[in-house]
Amino acid sequence: MDRERRKTLALLGGGLAAGLMGPSVVNWVSKTDTKGAPSARGSGDRAIHEPLPYVKLDPEHVGELGYRYFYQGDCMYGVFGAIVDALAEEVGEPFASYPTTVTRYGAAGVMGWGTLCGSANGAAMAIYLVSKDPAPAINEVFAFYEREALPNFLPVEARFQVPGSVAGSTLCHVSISKWCDFSGYDAYSAERADRCAQVAASLAKHTVEVLNAQLDGSFTAIHRPGAAELVCLGCHGRDSALQNMRGMMYCATCHTDKLESHP
Ligand code: HEC
Ligand code: HEC
Repeated sequence: MDRERRKTLALLGGGLAAGLMGPSVVNWVSKTDTKGAPSARGSGDRAIHEPLPYVKLDPEHVGELGYRYFYQGDCMYGVFGAIVDALAEEVGEPFASYPTTVTRYGAAGVMGWGTLCGSANGAAMAIYLVSKDPAPAINEVFAFYEREALPNFLPVEARFQVPGSVAGSTLCHVSISKWCDFSGYDAYSAERADRCAQVAASLAKHTVEVLNAQLDGSFTAIHRPGAAELVCLGCHGRDSALQNMRGMMYCATCHTDKLESHP
């Protein structure tokens, strides 16, 4: 046994209980990895973010825009551009001149890297732009992305009728690979592109539903990290015995060997 491991196990003696108590006692809010995230770490005023004023939007209309915009500027632009332009239609400035095309960097998990799905990235940016309480809204949309069979919204102009599949991850690479396995289409097919356009539409629509609910004061999370993840974070996450990882992604996508009880 190496020294680090010995130290870890000693530490656990005092802290294991928190993990063993299970998900019912693990406060999900306290485990989210976003404490202090919206704060201004710098000293200048520029670091302080004030949300722009949001007005209620029609989710289906924004979904349709998301689909169309995907073909103009890829996935992140699809979601972000749709929400900002829909706001511009309602209230004009500052949305009308907001530089939405900057979000084109997010295409295919940031310039083809297959990291964070651009649609999820665009949704998070839009939420951060206009929400007074962005963390729970982003949590909801990301967990929706991981857990729902997507796409789940069929735009009027859809070029193909494509099946929906569960990504189990917010990563572009994982999401596309799982869908290709499920559907039989390859990663560079027109059907796959249309699937991503429809995922952008689905995300734009759900993001607007969440923002509308926040505006009404009726928001409650429907999607959230599962019981298994909460158990994992009880030992590995913030304020746990080990504190040796960060993140709220679906653990089993990668740690397939860690699903059985351990250590
Ligand atoms: C009861 C506490 C506890 C729970 C719950 C728990 N773990 Fe662990 N986990 C540990 C301990 C202790 C180790 C060994 C740490 C070490 O050796 O440094 C470990 C090791 C690991 C490692 C390997 C780290 C390494 O050093 O190789 C991974 C990955 C991991 N756990 C993931 C998970 C996942 C995913 C879950 C949820 C399905 C989970 N754990 C739930 C306590 C826990
Ligand atoms: C996208 C893949 C992926 C997902 C999802 C993921 N992990 Fe990991 N995790 C890794 C990789 C890669 C490493 C580094 C190699 C290793 O230690 O296995 C790692 C390392 C770890 C370690 C070891 C840290 C250390 O210091 O030894 C723990 C603990 C861990 N992950 C827990 C989790 C938990 C809990 C979740 C879910 C909330 C999770 N991981 C989700 C890929 C992932």
